Amino acid sequence: MKKDISYLHSKKQQQQPITVLTCYDYPTACIQDEASIDVIFVGDSVGTNILGYKSEMEVTMADMLHHLKAVRRGVTNAYLLIDMPYASDRNEKQAVTNANIFLDNGADGVKLEGGIEKMSIVTALTEQDIEVCAHIGHNPQIHGTKATTHGKTVSKAKELIQAASALADAGAKLIVLEKITEEISQIITETLDIPTIGIGAGRFCDGQVLVINDILGIGTPFKHAKRYQNYNQLTLDAICQYKQEVENGNFPTDANVTHIPDDKLARINKWLESEG
Ligand code: KIV
Repeated sequence: MKKDISYLHSKKQQQQPITVLTCYDYPTACIQDEASIDVIFVGDSVGTNILGYKSEMEVTMADMLHHLKAVRRGVTNAYLLIDMPYASDRNEKQAVTNANIFLDNGADGVKLEGGIEKMSIVTALTEQDIEVCAHIGHNPQIHGTKATTHGKTVSKAKELIQAASALADAGAKLIVLEKITEEISQIITETLDIPTIGIGAGRFCDGQVLVINDILGIGTPFKHAKRYQNYNQLTLDAICQYKQEVENGNFPTDANVTHIPDDKLARINKWLESEG
């Protein structure tokens, strides 16, 4: 069953946690879809996790489109969300044009970073029936890669609660809460009708999102993430074993080889002889 925004909203109503993971390529998308992840998310974290960029601010529309197309080919059931990259949503017209490029290439919805200042952009997208996921708290496109926790002081907590309500009123259908104190995330979750998706925002959000590289143990994860696999080590072990087997002649073996039938080989040898 293809998961749509109503399905995600019904999970909030039934208090069933929503599962979200970032994804940047076709094989991982196939696996996430097979695992019934609710939202497969092409995050602009592709820049730092896959493309070797120093920050999310270097990620372009072309980068995102390239990875969206790969992920799209692997997704059958999940809701497919994509990030609007840095500066792709500077004004209403540009945001609508760029979001439509993503929808035309298979995205179900777009995520954009920013607080109350993004209300008019969210409204413009919503008016075009584009499903928007807002994103408040730590915003890598605004605050850079060094993540600090938001919502620790009364004034900052109030700002976050107000921004979340304003973005929902503007038409956002989902909202990511990144690096926000657990108590303020809980207040926002209980206040809003739309699902909250937390990352480093505690236990009481309607769903959780993590960066796929962090859970697989590729690179160094943040404290809020949990490593479920040590992919770096597994990959290193596999590569070292391959190198060793090539070097000592243990790969390839007969099992990895294709043969020409003997009669045909005999004809070739005869022909070689006749050619002198
Ligand atoms: O791009 C990304 O990975 C994100 C998540 C941190 C939500 O925006």
